[in-house]
Amino acid sequence: MRRARTPRTPFRLPRITTALAAVPLALTAAVVPAAAAPAPAAERATTERAERGHHGRDTLRDAAPKGFFIGTAVAGGGHHAEQPYADPFAYDVEYRDRMAREFNSLSAENQMKWEYIHPTRDYYNFYPADAIVRYAQENRQVVRGHTLLWHSQNPAWLEEGDFSDEELREILHEHITTVVGRYAGRIQQWDVANEIFDEDGEYREENIWIRELGPGIVADAFRWAHEADPRAKLFFNDYGVESVNAKSDAYYALIQELKADGVPVHGFAPQSHLSTRYGFPGDLQANLQRFADLGLETAITELDVRMDLPEGGEPTAAQQAQQADYYRRALQACLGVETCNSFTIWGFTDKYSWVPVFFPSEGSATVMTEDYERKPAYHALQDTLRSVRGKR
Ligand code: G3I
Repeated sequence: MRRARTPRTPFRLPRITTALAAVPLALTAAVVPAAAAPAPAAERATTERAERGHHGRDTLRDAAPKGFFIGTAVAGGGHHAEQPYADPFAYDVEYRDRMAREFNSLSAENQMKWEYIHPTRDYYNFYPADAIVRYAQENRQVVRGHTLLWHSQNPAWLEEGDFSDEELREILHEHITTVVGRYAGRIQQWDVANEIFDEDGEYREENIWIRELGPGIVADAFRWAHEADPRAKLFFNDYGVESVNAKSDAYYALIQELKADGVPVHGFAPQSHLSTRYGFPGDLQANLQRFADLGLETAITELDVRMDLPEGGEPTAAQQAQQADYYRRALQACLGVETCNSFTIWGFTDKYSWVPVFFPSEGSATVMTEDYERKPAYHALQDTLRSVRGKR
């Protein structure tokens, strides 16, 4: 007998964007899927501009020391689907241009998650993920794959299906083999297991794989991913593990067990969704270092720093300075650990940030305004990268 599943959020139709609002509903079915496809003209324009402007640029990737990857999430799917704009990665040429110029690493914000890439049992939608990987290759960027085993953003057919344990195990095996295999050699790091522990360091009951198949499935996921792409570095990824605490201790213990059993685990990453409501996690570097001492790569994978916005929505100079300080310290912590070579921010412009959607009174969490103006936080990252260039 299988236990009852966590109830799902009721299905909501995505809000139709302004451009589509006038289109009769019968037509939207035809229009919406096409909107997910990157416009070839936008794609060409980005590549041409990136090539033209390669030398002498004043950007983050130019400031980064050799072998260090400064990355961003690529906006698309998830909360964007409900916002009054077209898919950013497909349609916003300026966004694409800046992403090419500023970063040498990209993470799929939603496009490689189960509900997007594997929406029905027998069908994979690779189009958005393929477009990101192709764009990254054209712009000499590496890609972080996100994610393979998670409790969230799973399709209804999976969460609500009635599968035997053997079937469920085979579904995960097939998914990992198919998705990781498709991008083999083109993904630098995979977030194989995302957010598997709760704040007390217990396995999350909402995780279908662990709940139904037991925690041993985590080791299998790493083994299958490694078989499908032996070159990709395989990571644990979570929020709330920036400091030494019960949750990061649980990873520390698990990873030692897995390594002793010969499981191919290569990395540990605190996502780092920070807020100026709370103090900066001052032991971030020490925490990364203890994982590095286990022989692991480390990374910061989803940094942003949200804040309570004053009336009018504009952060004060003091707020901006505090935010810049958090960005600087997070980067310094990573740069201070020899195996921390990948530092990703969860979006680079407030225009597309997930933060106001999830935390309505908070925002301004990224390093650029909605108009792509560089904030003090941007300069904090740039200056910090420059300060170690040639020394690392
Ligand atoms: O589940 C509903 C679905 O039932 C409904 O049909 C659909 C309508 O558009 O909305 C669905 O929920 C959305 C969900 O993505 C699934 O697509 C939410 O409204 C939307 O807010 C959500 O956003 C994403 C979020 O992950 C979901 O957890 C964000 O875009 C994305 O930035 C965010 O990224 C996560 C990382 O993957 C992991 N770490 C935390 C980080 C921030 O939450």
